[in-house]
Amino acid sequence: MTKTANIYKPFKVTLEKVIEESPLIKTFVFVPEKEFRFQTGEFIELTLDGIGEAPFTPSSSPLVTDRFDVTVMKAGYMTEKMHRLQPGAILGVRGPYGRGYPVEQFIDKEILILSGGCGLAPIRSLLYTLIDMKDKLRKVTLCYGSKTPEDCVYKPLFSQLDSMDKFETLRTVDYADKYWEEHVGVATVLLDHVKVDLSNAVAVVCGPPVMMKFGTMKLLEMGFPEHLIYLSMEKNMSCGLGKCGHCMLGKYFVCRDGPVFTYDEIKDQPDIW
Ligand SMILES: Cc1cc2nc3c(=O)[nH]c(=O)nc-3n(C[C@H](O)[C@H](O)[C@H](O)COP(=O)(O)OP(=O)(O)OC[C@H]3O[C@@H](n4cnc5c(N)ncnc54)[C@H](O)[C@@H]3O)c2cc1C
Ligand code: FES
Repeated sequence: MTKTANIYKPFKVTLEKVIEESPLIKTFVFVPEKEFRFQTGEFIELTLDGIGEAPFTPSSSPLVTDRFDVTVMKAGYMTEKMHRLQPGAILGVRGPYGRGYPVEQFIDKEILILSGGCGLAPIRSLLYTLIDMKDKLRKVTLCYGSKTPEDCVYKPLFSQLDSMDKFETLRTVDYADKYWEEHVGVATVLLDHVKVDLSNAVAVVCGPPVMMKFGTMKLLEMGFPEHLIYLSMEKNMSCGLGKCGHCMLGKYFVCRDGPVFTYDEIKDQPDIW
């Protein structure tokens, strides 16, 4: 009799380093026990022994296979425990799962990215991928919003991108301090300041549901076609494998059919925001 592999069995990862990004957000650098490959935008299920399991999207480059980063916002029980972890801690990982960003469809295009808060985690992984393929792209514009300057994550990433040909960043905060010299207002205000050639562009949106909703509406007003707006959707998940039904979004399972969808695919499903 052949033995069936246990699809729920995690592999081990060791926490190498913790980077404090903001008062509520930390990046965890993990060393996997075996080579770990994922596509940008796919997610993993991370297990903390005796505590629980939750979905996260790696925030590092998919080209690096001996380490990966997960950026976690303190939201409740498990993420609070994660924020207390010290280097050397052992966790479990299942995955990668789902459907990530179809980056091959971004070739020869302008990419306009709208992100907010911890939504920049999957986007950072996407940006590393886009940096790697920049010769095949026209332009990448990143619009990012956080509550305050202190809440803005990955600060060095912005200067790195601004120093690169074809990349441009715009940042805004809801509440500025006396040192802030960039935009003030919700993330969507940044869309008033971008110039984009709509005949050859795609948009990517990832952030809190309210930003996803109003960002998408604004992109539609600007003239982006529904099938060229890519949304990274979050639903409560359990199996991550299209089996338990926890993550249903109308006719879709977010874990299996997403988490990346085009607006056109999900716009008629109930309660998408
Ligand atoms: C595909 C996917 C990728 C994700 N990637 C990341 C990531 O890279 N970084 C990150 O910080 N978070 C990410 N999340 C959200 C993360 O899974 C939740 O914040 C986490 O499960 C909360 O666990 P908890 O035990 O700390 O909170 P709980 O005690 O379970 O809940 C605390 C609060 O968080 C809300 N919450 C719980 N689960 C989710 C969820 N899945 N989505 C949104 N809100 C939730 C609850 O409604 C509640 O209000 C992702 C979620 C999905 C579905
Ligand atoms: S999480 Fe179980 S079906 Fe999606």
